Amino acid sequence: MSLSIVILAAGKGSRMKSDTAKVLHSISGRPMLHHITQSALALSDDVIIVIAHQKERVRAAMAEFTGVRFVEQDTDNFPGTGGAMMGIQPKYERVLVLNGDMPLITPQALEGFLNTQTPIVMSIFKLDNPDGYGRVIIGAEGVERIVEQKDATSEELHVNAVNAGVYSFSREVLKRYIPMLSNANAQKEYYLTDVIALARRDGVHVEPLLVDEEHFKGVNSKFDLSRAETIHQERLKRSWMEAGVIMQLPQSIYIESDVVFEGECVVENGVRITGKSRIVRSAIKAHSVVEESVMIDSDCGPMAHLRPKSHLERTHVGNFVETKNARLTGVKAGHLSYLGDATIDEGSNIGAGTITCNYDGKKKYETRIGKNVFIGSDTQIVAPCVIADDVIVAAGTTVTRDVEQGALAISRTKMSTVSGFFYKFFGTKA
Ligand code: UD1
Ligand code: MG
Repeated sequence: MSLSIVILAAGKGSRMKSDTAKVLHSISGRPMLHHITQSALALSDDVIIVIAHQKERVRAAMAEFTGVRFVEQDTDNFPGTGGAMMGIQPKYERVLVLNGDMPLITPQALEGFLNTQTPIVMSIFKLDNPDGYGRVIIGAEGVERIVEQKDATSEELHVNAVNAGVYSFSREVLKRYIPMLSNANAQKEYYLTDVIALARRDGVHVEPLLVDEEHFKGVNSKFDLSRAETIHQERLKRSWMEAGVIMQLPQSIYIESDVVFEGECVVENGVRITGKSRIVRSAIKAHSVVEESVMIDSDCGPMAHLRPKSHLERTHVGNFVETKNARLTGVKAGHLSYLGDATIDEGSNIGAGTITCNYDGKKKYETRIGKNVFIGSDTQIVAPCVIADDVIVAAGTTVTRDVEQGALAISRTKMSTVSGFFYKFFGTKA
């Protein structure tokens, strides 16, 4: 489409009260700026991102988006959203401007801004509580100007039509009015929103487009961030449910954007799934955490923790089991275990309280367990260690060297009993 898109991402975001630039705060596991850039790239091959504050961090966080151009804003001399537009050279006649703090925008939500010849189209929504947004002053002949909250009179503060922060401009309008902006306002900033009043003074038509907060919500504070994430999560989970995933109490489930499900999956309440996890025909039971892991025809939980690079296939992992960098194929690990840097093969059973001792304080070591191995409860396997196929490890054993195929491994101190000791110690009870 012959459309240039400018994303404003140079601001400090002081109201976030954070050491991290606002646009890098995450919604469903990805920076806000990723979400809006993805939508922009679906509509345009000329996407320009304006940066300044923490510009190197922002560039690094955006490394995967190779098809965008970065432009640096001179925020010392020209702060504000108008200042951000000063160095812009759009490739096309039509320029869509988006605030970078709008992570809920989808390409479909922008449709109304795309095929227009009007010199200026601006986004408006009506709110019961317009706090924080610029108010849109509408007169007999339509939109007259936008007044920022900090510059508004008490009367203007009551206006509930607000500027959502998306605009479609003809390149000519920008070329003409951006250089005319002034910073004579409460914040001493160059406001992009002042283009509206300047253009209206010349009789230029401004078309207001009514949009919804569900897609155009701006994030200025950590509270806004949580609200936007709730909306984003709802959307994401709904689409997975429509694709066939069963979710119990979905409002208690957190799923990041890069997670994928295939086939029929069940996700119980309180589950968190992050990173590029891939869940195929599997069930994740209540209050489990799955991070950057793969589950195929498997189940885990309740209260299991699959840490990064866990790969479960035809495997059952029960409560209080933690896995990390572990490949479990056809395994049962029902209770209370730590399986890290481990490969465990078909038919093996891992008893309650099994620990792979993978770390000696300096380095990590691997454990390999073959097929049909029965590991009794309360076993420690001191890595590096290879346990071959068809091995039995007796309960309570500390495995300190490799075990050959078909063997029993057992390490125990002999048990003894002392008759009547209880009564000697506590005395005879009446
Ligand atoms: C802005 C609008 C306001 C609107 C609201 C919608 C202005 C002056 N005000 O206010 O009318 O209701 O968005 O969400 O435009 N930025 C830069 N360079 C800067 C300053 C900001 O690139 O010097 C970027 C920010 O990184 C951010 C976006 O512009 O992504 C908007 O800035 P923000 O400070 O959030 O503006 P609002 O006060 O929300
Ligand atoms: Mg904002």
